[in-house]
Formats: sequence, C-alpha cells, structure tokens
Amino acid sequence: MITIVVNNKQVFQVVFYYHTGQFMNIKDTVAVVTGGASGLGEAVVREIIAKGGSVTIADLNEDAGNKLAAELGDRAIFHKTDVCSEEQVASMLNACVNAFGKVTAALSFAGIAIAMKTLGKNGPHPLEQYQKVIDINLVGTFNVSRLASEAMQNNTANDDGELGVIINTASVAAFDGQKGQPAYAASKAGVAGLTLPMARDLASYGVRVNTIAPGLFLTPMLSSLPEEAQEALSKQPLFPQRLGKPEEIAKLACFMIECAYLNAEVVRLDGGIRLP
Ligand SMILES: NC(=O)c1ccc[n+]([C@@H]2O[C@H](COP(=O)([O-])OP(=O)(O)OC[C@H]3O[C@@H](n4cnc5c(N)ncnc54)[C@H](O)[C@@H]3O)[C@@H](O)[C@H]2O)c1
Repeated sequence: MITIVVNNKQVFQVVFYYHTGQFMNIKDTVAVVTGGASGLGEAVVREIIAKGGSVTIADLNEDAGNKLAAELGDRAIFHKTDVCSEEQVASMLNACVNAFGKVTAALSFAGIAIAMKTLGKNGPHPLEQYQKVIDINLVGTFNVSRLASEAMQNNTANDDGELGVIINTASVAAFDGQKGQPAYAASKAGVAGLTLPMARDLASYGVRVNTIAPGLFLTPMLSSLPEEAQEALSKQPLFPQRLGKPEEIAKLACFMIECAYLNAEVVRLDGGIRLP
C-alpha cells in the first residue's frame, strides 16, 4: 500500500494486490524445450531466457543446440535428445533437474514435415515415411509429456495446487490438411486430439496441458522456399497478410505458462488463415 500526501494532507491510498499463486512466473520457470535449437522452439527458448527463466534445450541438432546454449549463458543448457527415445528423454529431464533443481514446464516443438501423397507417380506413400512422421510428431510429443509430468510431481505446488504445465505444438494442418499431408496432418491432429484427455488425466496431478496450432511461420522450414513461394504463402492469412514471426509463438507459449486458468485448450495462432 502507498499513501499519496499533498500539502500535509492525505489525498488517497493505493493498495497493490499481487497474488503470486495464480500465475506461474516465467522468472521462476524451469523449462525443457524440445526442438529448441531451431525455429519456433528457439524463439521460445530465447523469450523464456529473456524473461528470467531457465531452459534445457532438447534437440537432435548438437551444433545448433550447443551454440545457442553457449550464447544464452548460465540459465541455458543443451542436452542432445531424440524425443522418440524413452531413455534419452528421461536423461534430458534428469539433466534439467541436476542443472536447475526442477522441471516446471515442458514444451514440445520438435517436429518434421514431409510432403507425400497417399498415392503418387512413384506408387503408394511409403509406410516407413508415414510411421516416421507419426513417431516424431505424435509419439515423441506424448513421450516427452508423460515423462515430464512425472518429473513435475517433485515440485512444490503454488496456491492453485499447480506443479507444472505442458505445451505441445500441433499445426493448422490438424484441421485443414492439404494435399501431400496425410502423415503430417494426422500427426498434428493427434497432438490436438490428445490435449483434452491428457489435461483430464493430469488435472489431479496439478499439471495443465495446452496446445499451439501455428499457421505459417518464417522458420528455417519455410525460409528455404524460393522467394516467390514465400510471397505467395504470405498472402494466405486473412490479416495481417504476412508470415507469422516466431516471437509471436514465443509470446503465446509464455502466456500459456503464466495463465493458470488456461487449460485443455488448442489455440490457433495463424492470422485467421484457412488453408484451401
Ligand atoms: N514453421 C511453421 O510454419 C509451422 C507451422 C505449423 C506447425 N509447425 C510446427 O512447429 C514445430 C517447430 O517447427 P519449426 O518450423 O520451428 O521447425 P524447425 O525445423 O526449424 O525446428 C524443428 C527442430 O526439431 C528438431 N527435431 C526434429 N526431430 C527431432 C527428434 N526426433 N528429437 C528431437 N528434436 C528433433 C530439429 O533438429 C529442429 O531443430 C514443428 O512441430 C512443426 O511441425 C511449424
């Protein structure tokens, strides 16, 4: 409370209420970010670090991951991790606990995209390619979520009883998949679909679960396309007519960490795009 005094007379008093229990502060957040060495995951890593949190970057790309961790300083470590491996994800979570004492947020951004039709000039979609996409995007995401939720049980609950938060990444392809996306769209529809049941499963364990469904974002995945293709894609959103910026995903991810009342939700972040 502060009291405003003018000419020895009390004018008014201002009372500040700050209920720390309702929000999980980014400053106190210890996050693991899969796919954190590139693109959307990297932007999330940078935002959490900029806001005072700590991050374990979990990615297959050792060079990029180590470089990023070295640039970001003491509150970031890199742990080479294949999200599909139970052993490697468990070891990554241990590394996070050893470095920062706990895991309060698990964000899955690791993913791959392929363009392959169900039946094409070279015959039917190879089954192993289909399985690979499902394995990394869907099974890998589930693997990280389930093991992270267990690690979060060692945390001290805040006033809401919250122990941690899980944020996964789908895509607008989960809803409007295009030609050549039977594997990618199915994997992302799976991620969107598991959000509610996982949030229900983990409610009594103090863990929230939310999913981001990005539209088209300028990451290494898209910036490798020719300029005309990028130009054409940037015309697709309703408004604003441009590609999304990875920092915009990072802001949403931080909001999902902080806002204790946001749970079991899939949020499209896409400038209103509806892919044809
Ligand atoms: N960029 C977009 O427009 C867009 C749109 C919708 C959804 N997404 C989704 O967002 C996520 C991030 O995409 P991005 O554009 O930043 O891609 P990106 O290629 O820049 O980054 C993906 C990262 O995941 C890592 N990775 C791949 N397989 C892995 C595995 N098995 N284990 C651990 N790490 C692995 C890669 O090494 C890479 O660093 C993906 O899940 C993608 O499907 C992206």
